[in-house]
Amino acid sequence: MTLRIDMHSHFFPPIGREEAATLDAQHAPWLRIDADGQRGMIMTGERAFRPVYRALWDPVARLEELDALGVDVQLMCATPVMFGYRYDAAGAHEWAMRMNDRALELCAASHGRLMALAQVPLQDVELACREATRAHRAGHRGVQIGNHLGPRDLDDEHLVTFLAHCANDGIPVLVHPWDMMTDGRMKKWMLPWLVAMPAETQLSMVSLILSGAFERVPKSLKLCFAHGGGSFAFLLGRVQNAWEQRDIVREDCPNPPVSYLDRFYVDSAVFDPRALKLLVDTMGEDRVMLGSDYPFPLGEQKIGDLVANHAELSAAAKAKILGGNAQRFFDLPDLASARAA
Ligand code: CO
Repeated sequence: MTLRIDMHSHFFPPIGREEAATLDAQHAPWLRIDADGQRGMIMTGERAFRPVYRALWDPVARLEELDALGVDVQLMCATPVMFGYRYDAAGAHEWAMRMNDRALELCAASHGRLMALAQVPLQDVELACREATRAHRAGHRGVQIGNHLGPRDLDDEHLVTFLAHCANDGIPVLVHPWDMMTDGRMKKWMLPWLVAMPAETQLSMVSLILSGAFERVPKSLKLCFAHGGGSFAFLLGRVQNAWEQRDIVREDCPNPPVSYLDRFYVDSAVFDPRALKLLVDTMGEDRVMLGSDYPFPLGEQKIGDLVANHAELSAAAKAKILGGNAQRFFDLPDLASARAA
């Protein structure tokens, strides 16, 4: 059977309000666990942020579910509310180290089946680079970053410097959308997650391309975007046409947008076989990796089934997407012993 490596899942460590106060007594995220220990709520200060269940913070419960789902290995990264990008850099740096150490503790008892991607204090490029390297040496398989810092997109020089550092140190990077537009017309029906999240991801990708940033980042950078790159594959034709037709679109981008597709990867969390087919046709079968967004309700509930049950993808393509690509991307050790029960 094909190895299943899920490279996009989230954790939140079981920290109470007191520990969260090391970052910020008023608004920092913490976990309120119900008396039965099975369910809980991510809180930001006094406010309920998101209802969650045990697998988010308990590696034993998580592995039981992964066994039932046939997932061999899972990479976990911070729930974006943990990023701390809005705080002063020194506090956010300490917080990131604390969260990253907690992540490795959760992985420690998993016999190599749970791995982690680190978070970094992205608001300070020097500290972000330092923590990325420290965490990578400590056992994290890469870093996860938010797709923007306030008004600054991924093509911002500060962020390009961070990406270049990761390339030079051989640290894979997962870009995750966060801090979406949530008010006004976005207020209802989880619209920020349904509409703004894919738009954020696509904005990052198109910004990296049209700014010419890929000309400044080493080609060795391993870069992946969550949620299949948002709407990117569907809208690439529009960007390409605009680049061909309008000088203001191509003024910073020396090569056609489609020529940069070999500079990044995407995950497979698109929930529709036709969308997955377009994604694999656009990116190539070597550049799509199984990613579920587990353990949240907006993630793929039967992790990997969209890929495994696809009517048109070849067996070879499925094996790459389900595990082979992630094994290479994250430079994972031999995973034969990690086989799900
Ligand atoms: Co996610």
